[in-house]
Amino acid sequence: MQQKDTQQFYEAHQTLLHWYKQHGRHTLPWRNTQNLYHVYLSEIMLQQTQVSRVRDEYYPQFLEKFPTLDALRDAPLDDVFAAWSGLGYYRRAKNLHSCAKECVGVLPQSETELLELSGIGQYTASAICCFGLGQSIPVVDTNIARVLKRYFSLLNQTDKTLWQYATKFVNETDPRHHNLALMDLGSLICLPKNPKCDACPLKETCLGKIEPELYTQTKKKEYIAMELFFGVLIKEGKIALQLSDDNMYKDMLVLPKVEPLEDKLIAKFKHSYTKYRLDVHLYEVEEICGEILWIDLDKFDLAPISSLTKKAKLHLSKKYLFMERHLAQRQ
Ligand code: ADE
Repeated sequence: MQQKDTQQFYEAHQTLLHWYKQHGRHTLPWRNTQNLYHVYLSEIMLQQTQVSRVRDEYYPQFLEKFPTLDALRDAPLDDVFAAWSGLGYYRRAKNLHSCAKECVGVLPQSETELLELSGIGQYTASAICCFGLGQSIPVVDTNIARVLKRYFSLLNQTDKTLWQYATKFVNETDPRHHNLALMDLGSLICLPKNPKCDACPLKETCLGKIEPELYTQTKKKEYIAMELFFGVLIKEGKIALQLSDDNMYKDMLVLPKVEPLEDKLIAKFKHSYTKYRLDVHLYEVEEICGEILWIDLDKFDLAPISSLTKKAKLHLSKKYLFMERHLAQRQ
């Protein structure tokens, strides 16, 4: 570890807390609650979604519908998905629901126990314990990771090393504000591109300048061409969907993947999604492997479906008369 002695840490801690007092995002609602479920919910929502959208729309609306872990546990999964609609990465909603069932009313208060619950990884467990309970532990999200990498001049380090630095750097007297301050420093000052070093409270002791690469790392855009094969199974006005596991559609509801079945082809279309350029084939199937979520065709537009699945629906509606009837009834 690059040497920074105890006195230097002490001074860095004080400067950081002073900066946070003046510039931190204190009004975020999940920073002003002791309700562990609310803290947990915010961390899950914030994983893939902008702070302002979570603060203004999804967090208050979700809590209005499901104010407690018990209310969440008792709700049908369809309702949880509907409240999540628009947020994407729907596995998060499914995990929230499973977690509510697993912990029966109260979330555990230790990292080890939290890590056993559905969808709670190292970051979320530590964030809940530190932000919700004030425990003196490190928290490392992408913003904090960038601050630590620069502050300690860590190029090409593993996650494990970063967590070790975060552990050494924790301010034992005020770990909660220390970690929140690092998070805000990363999101307001120590930006990925064009960081505002002049305004940084840690600029005097930051070792980052030794490695200019720490400030210029940009990823080249690459496209990936793929063919995808999906099965279509519709029964009694419901269509079979699955939570996707693969990286491309991770945590969204999609049609089930199948092997190509040329004589059962219903439709073919092209679709672009982030870095993927896709050729999509839809086949009629009679059975599906794995866990199925039956989504009512009447509720299709409310369900947490991927843009690819929405496009597939348009192609399917041309083929299936009864689906057209369903769609027509809704218009
Ligand atoms: N405050 C606490 N956790 C947060 C997060 N993940 N993003 C933004 N602000 C937060």
